[in-house]
Amino acid sequence: MRALVAGAAGFLGSHLSDRLHDDGVEVFGFDNFDSGRHQNIAHLDGDPGFRFFEHDITQPIAAAELGPLDVIFNMACPASPFAVRIFNTYGPRMDPEDGRIVSSFIVQALRGEPITIFGDGSQTRSLCYVDDLVGGLVRMGASEPAFTGPVNLGSPEELTVLDTARIIKEMTGSRSPTVFKDLPQDDPMKRKPDISLAESKLGRRPKGPFTKGAAPTIDYFRGAIGETPTGSGPVFPGR
Ligand SMILES: NC(=O)c1ccc[n+]([C@@H]2O[C@H](COP(=O)([O-])OP(=O)(O)OC[C@H]3O[C@@H](n4cnc5c(N)ncnc54)[C@H](O)[C@@H]3O)[C@@H](O)[C@H]2O)c1
Repeated sequence: MRALVAGAAGFLGSHLSDRLHDDGVEVFGFDNFDSGRHQNIAHLDGDPGFRFFEHDITQPIAAAELGPLDVIFNMACPASPFAVRIFNTYGPRMDPEDGRIVSSFIVQALRGEPITIFGDGSQTRSLCYVDDLVGGLVRMGASEPAFTGPVNLGSPEELTVLDTARIIKEMTGSRSPTVFKDLPQDDPMKRKPDISLAESKLGRRPKGPFTKGAAPTIDYFRGAIGETPTGSGPVFPGR
């Protein structure tokens, strides 16, 4: 198979490229590095199974030069519904300063900074490990053309924000204090995808509890925050 991945240097696009490459798919990665990073795909440099093009996909692509493609994954356009609807996903290669709940808590825990919780932490989030999300994308890419979705991909496992912080503190061995801040008005009390369509049409259900994906994610952040200045970025409560 031959696949084009737009946004290949981003968080999800780079993992998707890895997975397709491991499956023997010839991958053509496109990215303009708007928010992506070369280091996410540096391990594929020079690999004959992965050809990378620094290119803005709003501009025409010389498709004839690529030859025939079996599937196109567009992970580059924030507003565009790619056949799937992606819910909170975390894992290695996240930007340490992106303000999402998992990255913020891990970075704060590893730095020994206060862990910031908005409200009393009883609101729940459902956090999907990136390998599970990518597995769903791959199945969607291979699904019958008549099935166009949208289909929800994410984890149905609900964790309170407080429990998420507690687990991360335990797993990192951190002594960070927990600080509580006012809950913003628009912060949802619950974010949980209904993944019944993904289960029935794609045979897809995330494989493990949060702790399973949290371990490699913490390992990644231990290395990643060594490369960034001290002081966490902003924390966006809803993410
Ligand atoms: N990560 C999540 O939890 C999540 C949740 C919901 C939806 N999504 C959606 O999934 C997609 C990928 O998310 P991500 O977390 O990997 O984001 P990301 O920012 O890491 O990846 C997007 C990639 O697209 C590239 N890009 C943007 N505009 C481009 C253009 N015009 N031409 C070429 N490349 C371009 C960026 O440089 C970046 O590498 C996005 O559409 C996002 O909205 C992600």
